[in-house]
Amino acid sequence: METNSPVVNIEIKPGGPILIKSTITIKHVDGAEEIKTGVTALCRCGASANKPFCDGAHKKIDFKD
Ligand code: FES
Repeated sequence: METNSPVVNIEIKPGGPILIKSTITIKHVDGAEEIKTGVTALCRCGASANKPFCDGAHKKIDFKD
């Protein structure tokens, strides 16, 4: 399938976050929108105190997935 959209690179880190390598807009649950550039790390362990972003807490809980 071909599109004109740019390719966005997403990497799942073993035992860690989802890395999105692109400029993205995140719409938070309160409706606020935030633009992130470069590499954005999203939490997938559930332990971050700064969701949806990774704050490194996956290391403290020894996240394995
Ligand atoms: S993946 Fe890093 S804090 Fe959850």
